[in-house]
Amino acid sequence: MTRVFSGVKPTGHLTLGNYLGAMRRWVGVDQHRAEALFCIVDLHALTVEHDPARVRRLSRQAATVLLAAGLDPERCTVFVQSHVDEHARLSYLLECVATDGEMRRMIQYREKAGLERARGGSVRLSLLTYPVLMAADILAYRTDEVPVGDDQTQHVELARDLAVRFNQRYGHTFVVPRATHPEVAARVMNLKEPASKMGKSDDFGPGIVYVLDEPDVVRKKVMRAVTDSGRDVVYDRAGRPGVANLLEILAACTGGNPSDLGGVYESYGALKKDTAEAVVEVLRPVQARHKELCADPGYVEGVLRDGAERARAMARPTVDAAYRAIGLLPAS
Ligand code: TYM
Repeated sequence: MTRVFSGVKPTGHLTLGNYLGAMRRWVGVDQHRAEALFCIVDLHALTVEHDPARVRRLSRQAATVLLAAGLDPERCTVFVQSHVDEHARLSYLLECVATDGEMRRMIQYREKAGLERARGGSVRLSLLTYPVLMAADILAYRTDEVPVGDDQTQHVELARDLAVRFNQRYGHTFVVPRATHPEVAARVMNLKEPASKMGKSDDFGPGIVYVLDEPDVVRKKVMRAVTDSGRDVVYDRAGRPGVANLLEILAACTGGNPSDLGGVYESYGALKKDTAEAVVEVLRPVQARHKELCADPGYVEGVLRDGAERARAMARPTVDAAYRAIGLLPAS
């Protein structure tokens, strides 16, 4: 059976980008057709300046939102990365296979390190090695497919490279994974800054729709989205990024096609109104279920405890095999 692994980082509240780019497929497709694991990757949240209480709170919230969105613990494994030691164990071995040049070439590292330095802060070493830990997340489970948004492509490529290199040097140990992306909304852009991705921890707050935003907040954000100087509604990602983004969001929420939808609208106002309502409708059941789950924190904790146990059992044999293959003396 195909093995699927993916994750979310608890560095901010989950966004419409996370939902349309990744979570929705995990819920609607992956958990039904594959042996799937979904992880709250909390160790990754420590790579930039962080508040310990906030990371804890966001980790719990992310788990609750994933379950509210429809991940079913009977069908898939939902767990927290730091509960399974195998991720950190394997990450170190992969650091011995990766090179520093490879790490410095990673686009996200360059962007985030640049931002940290511009703010006068220092760059944590873990930000540089982040993609290695991500590779460990994936490779520990002998993952075939990694369903992610566009922004993670380079990281999954690195995981592939490290798997191939390790296998060549030390004998076949890892499955070589591949990224999968949604057909539309693989990169949802910020509504106020359509040249930038809609990210959880952005500076362009009013352009970010959060999964838990109240309907009126969603409406306000979408109605105030930046459009382009033209007037007709056409799907042109390069020339009309603001409108194209709205068309993609609308298409992803309604199951249509962004180019076809472009022909339907005569004004930006009408497009925004329908997009806002479509987003509200997509988020409504998730928010309702989230409210129920918040009233039952014991349930979420139980799911995470079982998930960690299952994940550990899946990861351990592969990570142990990697320890032996690379030349470490077995403990017993
Ligand atoms: P993270 O937490 O930034 O995002 C979680 C998932 O949401 C997707 N995504 C988007 N998709 C479309 N449009 C957007 N604006 C948008 N923003 C985010 C991301 O592509 C991702 O699929 N490094 C990862 C977490 C991670 C991981 C892993 C993922 C750690 N280990 C192993 C897969 C496998 C990250 O920061 O995702």
